[in-house]
Amino acid sequence: MNTRKPTLGEFIIENQASFSYSSGELSRLLNAIRLAAKVVNHEVNKAGLVDLFGSSGDVNVQGEQQQKLDVFANTTFIQALKNRNIVCGIVSEEDDDFIKVDCIDNNNSSKYVVLMDPLDGSSNIDVNVSVGTVFSIYRRITPIGSPVEMEDFLQPGINQVAAGYVIYGTSTMIVFTTGDGVNGFTLNPAIGSFYLSHPDMKFPETGSIYSVNEGNYTHFPVGVKKYIKYCQMDEGDRPYTSRYIGSLVSDFHRNMIKGGIYIYPNSTIHQDGKLRLLYECNPVAFIAEQAGAKASNGYQRILELKPKEIHERVPFYCGNTAMVEKLESFLLDK
Ligand code: AHG
Ligand code: MN
Ligand code: MN
Repeated sequence: MNTRKPTLGEFIIENQASFSYSSGELSRLLNAIRLAAKVVNHEVNKAGLVDLFGSSGDVNVQGEQQQKLDVFANTTFIQALKNRNIVCGIVSEEDDDFIKVDCIDNNNSSKYVVLMDPLDGSSNIDVNVSVGTVFSIYRRITPIGSPVEMEDFLQPGINQVAAGYVIYGTSTMIVFTTGDGVNGFTLNPAIGSFYLSHPDMKFPETGSIYSVNEGNYTHFPVGVKKYIKYCQMDEGDRPYTSRYIGSLVSDFHRNMIKGGIYIYPNSTIHQDGKLRLLYECNPVAFIAEQAGAKASNGYQRILELKPKEIHERVPFYCGNTAMVEKLESFLLDK
């Protein structure tokens, strides 16, 4: 029996036929992400040695301090996507406006747009804690060959063709879905290849972890406060365990493997929540649903929200279906 694990490259080629509207373009796009992930991984791993820790001195459109690795990851992913003539537009957390990609080499025939958070959890860089990259891929709406428009990016999450994340952790992984389950690939740094280590990832049947920044507790909606108290109650399978890294990618990844709920509510500090719908919540929600879990803004399915602007924020509750539904019931119970 051949038990060798396929590489990400082999997996993409083998599964290309099952990708919707497959023409090889999506495969090449995923390959570009794989390449950029390796480059960023290399920099993240040596950040302490080459003066990549700390702030770049700039502030992004959302008023947040950009870290040097935010800027490096942003440039690396944009270059990898642009150089291969495989996308017609990009939205990044680090850029105010969407980027139109001009592909003269292929008469602008690219049909995909990518939305991304090039470095998630960047406040954790300086302290050697896991960070990530999140990406979301759509087919454009406007005609192929013309410059991309805002409407190409403001699509509901249900239109996603593929989505995933890279986690630069104790090992580096790429986890993604093309709408046919979730697969995780671990980088063997000695060889430089990602291998299929986590096929068909699913949330466990039940969860017992809640992940929330409890420092903001007094500012949370009443329903969320009640849910947190419910998690802490000594009753049935509770109290649950609290785990919060402060990197969405890492917190979600752990909860998908161990079972749990991720909570980032709206609050008196963050009126609409903190996480961005298009390049944090939608891709993670797509993966969550494909792994048998649920993602909600408390009242509606994340993937059905119609975005109004590219950097829009939403409250985010994501994890085991029963846990998310319990939280929703507390929000409705005025
Ligand atoms: P980013 O580094 O891309 O700005 O994202 C940080 C996000 C997310 O990864 C994390 O879960 C959340 O911010 C943490 O926020 P708090 O520090 O407010 O808990
Ligand atoms: Mn982020
Ligand atoms: Mn970021």
